[in-house]
Formats: sequence, structure tokens, C-alpha cells
Amino acid sequence: MSNSEQNSTIEALFVEERRFPPTEEFKAQANVASESIYAEGKDFENFWRAQASRIQWQTPFKETLDWSDAPFAKWFVGGRLNITESALDVHAKSTPDKVAYYFEGENGDTRVVTYKDLYHEVCKFANALSDLGISKGDRVAIYMGMVPEFPVALLACARLGAPHSVIFGGFSSDSLKDRIIDASAKALITCDESWRNGGRVPLKETADVALSETPSVEHVVVVQRTGAQVKMVEGRDHYYHELIKDADDERPAESMDSEDPLFILYTSGTTARPKGIVHSTGGYAVGVATTHSMVFDIKEDDIYWCTADVGWVTGHSYVVYGPLINGVSSVLFEGVPQFPDKDRYWDIVEKYKVTQLYTAPTSIRTFMKWGTEYVTKHDLSSLRVIGTVGEPINPEAWMWYHEYVGNSRCPIVDTWWQTETGHMMIAPLPGVTTTKPGSATIPLPGINVEVVDQNGNPVPKGSGGYLVITQPWPGMARTIFNDPQRFKDVYWSRFSKPSENKWVYFAGDGAKKDLDGYIWLLGRVDDVMNVSGHRISTLEVESALVDHPAVAEAAVVGREDPTTGQAIAAFVTLKGANQGNEELIAELREHVAQKIGKIARPASIVFTDELPKTRSGKIMRRLLRDISEKRQLGDVTTLANADVVKEIAEQAAKAAQSSNSQE
Ligand code: PRX
Repeated sequence: MSNSEQNSTIEALFVEERRFPPTEEFKAQANVASESIYAEGKDFENFWRAQASRIQWQTPFKETLDWSDAPFAKWFVGGRLNITESALDVHAKSTPDKVAYYFEGENGDTRVVTYKDLYHEVCKFANALSDLGISKGDRVAIYMGMVPEFPVALLACARLGAPHSVIFGGFSSDSLKDRIIDASAKALITCDESWRNGGRVPLKETADVALSETPSVEHVVVVQRTGAQVKMVEGRDHYYHELIKDADDERPAESMDSEDPLFILYTSGTTARPKGIVHSTGGYAVGVATTHSMVFDIKEDDIYWCTADVGWVTGHSYVVYGPLINGVSSVLFEGVPQFPDKDRYWDIVEKYKVTQLYTAPTSIRTFMKWGTEYVTKHDLSSLRVIGTVGEPINPEAWMWYHEYVGNSRCPIVDTWWQTETGHMMIAPLPGVTTTKPGSATIPLPGINVEVVDQNGNPVPKGSGGYLVITQPWPGMARTIFNDPQRFKDVYWSRFSKPSENKWVYFAGDGAKKDLDGYIWLLGRVDDVMNVSGHRISTLEVESALVDHPAVAEAAVVGREDPTTGQAIAAFVTLKGANQGNEELIAELREHVAQKIGKIARPASIVFTDELPKTRSGKIMRRLLRDISEKRQLGDVTTLANADVVKEIAEQAAKAAQSSNSQE
């Protein structure tokens, strides 16, 4: 984001004067109701040491934090645990019949999974995986739809100490292949297909394409969901239900060091190569359990629902680990908000009497577009706290969520965090923090963030800059798989001063700190787009486009979009005699979907004879973004080919029009 853009966004946010303090009624029952928690959080090591009692430790830790090898942190040093004992064993003993998941299938089929059921299912599957030769330290790739076996798969790996690497079910075979290869996964767990929006997603078929080039995979486990006939390779492929049929339903949990890796999760960065973010066990467990309990004000009888797919970090932390450690009953939903009708979410809230709903701003903006009647025809009075994650929420969407979903009564928790942070970092505590529409408010207790200028100095209140995290936190990423140097370079080099032993984490987001010290997220400042709350690298999409035989060169930018936050706008030059027409646009969009996944398909593609470049040959993405968003173009005199700009602007206007009319 350029300075002038940031300033105008900051100006716009300054006029937001609405305030929503917690009501007395909410405060009276809140898990955390005193502001003193923020003071406690100032001594962050002590704060997190106290929170560690939420977890079952096999061996108590000796030291809370070892930061001597910064930026590679060690939390709860010497402690031993298995995260599944906190998530399953405790509850299977104390509340065996309590529901862990109310599963709601896309087609309306349901399953109720109690803590006892989940415990035994995980043990059975862990035994089955172990029989296939999976043991501590082996990486297991998971590529599934939202069925109860999805959390079971993660937990079974965790039970064995085998780091899971989940790849979102919407990714293409190429993306799956790259991630399997990077992690040298020994096994893959998938489904025959999954249901989505009334259709079928051919997971196994897609996986088979990837598997033809992944020699590390020795075994594939297939969960039957739709019952489709899929190819099963003798000796390699096994049906889940057959594997667990006779498996023992008890399995001792592998003892893990607090710092042993729990999982790898790939995320997009500013290069075409995704990064395998590595999370470890003890700190992550403490971080997700604490934040889930505090931010959602979790109570014993709550019915909590996070709509995220387990394929993303939100699903890992707040569909699987956080809620299970806290022993809560969750809804697990397979489908999409519009199937069979646009009131599906509200139908589910009413049906299960959901108390906490956690969803994405992009969904909220879509609901606004659909109209209030879908919401108001349902009884949502069970809701107590409603949350958002994944992208900035504009004040209008916030107010709509507040009024129509929260009935002007439920606190909204706008939670800022990342795949790399493991758990929420900036979010209100609903019984304590006054909220402002559009602001994620202030850092959680035990977390310290700052907004800094380009030299790393904190900006004065009322100004914008770069969001950084200034002290370690328990769920922080430990490294990038097989690439510790990249971990250091990407996150810890820009504002750190190693010679002074000062380590500062750079999140990649722009932010504003207002006069009360509240944080307003302004979007990414790097070449990462955020489309419907999903991180997509401009470079990844560019390389997918250039991979097409007709394409000579491509530039991709995120342009503002009223529903998806950002939309992908591509500018393409073609080789030789190729003609840029509608057919080729469709073909290129499909090509990107095949290379990366449908979520990365450009919303608009503009053909141009040349891309605007600086004299040193760098593509001027900022200019393309300005063109895409029809802003006044800034100074173009440093361009080598200034005359292409007008032509591109005209083409882009046409493309944006046709992408709008496609919706
Ligand atoms: O730009 C921020 C945005 O999403 C990025 C992290 O994406 P990912 O690792 O995929 O994790 C998403 C779910 C935690 C951030 O760098 N982001 C996330 N939450 C918010 C947000 N932007 C503004 N407000 C939020 N609440």
C-alpha cells in the first residue's frame, strides 16, 4: 500500500466514532471481566506460564521461554506432553458423553460425535496408521473435505507424533504435489470426494494426479464420503473404514517434547514458492486454548461454531485444537452458506442453538448483499459472542453483523492473526474491551505489538505504518520447514537489530494506531493478496499464467472488491501471433485454477502489448493497482514505456466491467 493510499484510509477511519463497551449483563458473566488482565499480561512470561496449566503435561516444563537462539523460540522448555491428551483423554474421562462435534453435512445428513467417540476413533486410526508404518517424526499429508474424519486425521497424527501437513481441499493437484514433495510426506489421507455447493469435489482423482510424482508417499488412506468409484492402487491405497474396522480403540499417546513439531501448514509468501510454516506442540497448545477461551468467553454448555475449513490455520486452531482442549461442543459444517438456500448458516445457528459464531468478513459482506430477510427469519437469540477473522472488516459490514446477527446485543470479536502466529494476537476481550467498528482493537494480554515507520520507530498515535510484534509468544511459528534462513529473512530481518539482540517480527501488514492506541489493519504491504480471507501471492499467480504456452509475461495485482476484499486482476502480454480474446481469458483462468486452485483464478485479465516497467525493468504493480482501482495515476515519468498506461487503463476498465457482469 502506498503512503497516499494509507493516509486516505487512515483519514477515512478517523471519522469512525461509534463505541461499543461491554454491557453490564455480559460483564457479570464473563470469563475475563477485569481490565487488570492487561496489566498481568505485561509480564508476558509469567502470564503465559500461568496459562500453561490449561494443558495436561506429562512432565512439567522447567523454563517458560528460552529466547537465546532468537528468532528460534523455545517455549515451556523441558515439558513433555501429547496435545491429544488435553484435547481428548481428559474429556473422554470426565465428560465422555458430551458432544465434541455436531456434524452437519452439506445435504442435511448429520452425525453426533461425543468426546468418548472421538477419543476411540482417533486411537483406532492412530493404530491403523502405525500399522502402515507411520511413526513419530514422519510427515503425513492430509487433503480432505469437512467431515468428522478430518479432525480425526489431524489428531491421529498428533497422537503418534507425526507432524500433519494439511493441504486445503480446494487446491489443485500441482499445489498438492509441491507441498507433498517439500515435506517428503510418507502418507496421504484423503476422501473419495467431498460435497460442495450441490456438487462433488473429486479429491481422490486430483490426489492421484499429484501422487504420480510423489515418490515419498507409501500409503494413501481414503475416507468414503460420497461413495464414488475411485481408483485404488493395490498395496498403496486403503479405505479408512476397512483400516479402522478391527483396530484397537486404545492407543497410548506418544510422549512429545514441548518443542517437537505438531504440524506444517503451507502459506503463500512473496515468492512463488509456498512456505511450510512449522508449529511446535506445547506453546501452540497453550496459545490456542487460552485465546479460544478468553476471546469467545467459552462456557461449559456452549455450542461453538467456527465456519472455517480445517484446511486453513483457523480450522486447525479454532475448529480442532482450541475448542477440543477447552472441551466445548462444536458444530462442524461441510457445506457453503448458499446451499440449499442463502439462509443455511442461520438455519444451523437456530437448529443447534449456536452460542459463538466465528466467520469471515467476506461472508458477512455476501450476506449483506443477499438481504436481511435470510437472517431475520431465523431465531438467533442463542448467540452470545460473534467473531471475524481473515481480513479487515469494514465498519459497514461490522455494523450489519452487529445489528442483524448479533441483534445489537452480542459483542463482536474481530481477531487479527496469521498462519505464522498460530493463534489470535489482536482481538478484544468481550467482557472488558470497548470495541470500535472496523478495529481489531488491542493486543491480547501477553502479546505486544507496535506500529512502526520504515526505520522501525513506533509511529505516534493517530498515524499509520507497519505492524510488528515485539516480543515472542507461545504459538509463534518456529521455522519454515527445511529453510530456517528463509524464516529469518522473511519475518525477522526488516526491523530486527541482532547486534543489540532486538528481535522484531514483521507481519507484512500495514496498520494504523489511533489516538486511543487501537489498531486498525490496513491490508498487506507486500505482494500478497487477500481474496476472501485467503492469502495468495501475486507471484504464484503470475508464474501460473506464464506457464501457459500463449503467455509471454504477466503481472498480477489485488484490486479492491466490495465482497471478496480483494480481487485478482491480471495483466498479460502474449507470445507471437496469439490473439487475446474471451476464449483465451477463460482458458487462462482455468489454467490458473489447475495450477493453483479455483481460489486463485483471476477475476479479470487484461491483454496488453507491454507491461508498465521502470527503467530498470521492474513491473510497476502499484500503477497497475491504481489502474485497476481507477485511481488518479501518480507520477509515471519513471516509466520506460509510459504510453502503454493509457491503453492498459482502457482495457482494464472494460475487463472490470465484464468481470462484474459475470457475477
Ligand atoms: O493480512 C492479514 C489478514 O490475513 C493475513 C493472514 O492470513 P493467513 O495466514 O491466511 O491467516 C488467516 C487467518 C488467521 C494477515 O497478515 N488478516 C487476518 N485476520 C485479520 C486480517 N486483517 C485484518 N483484520 C483481521 N482480523
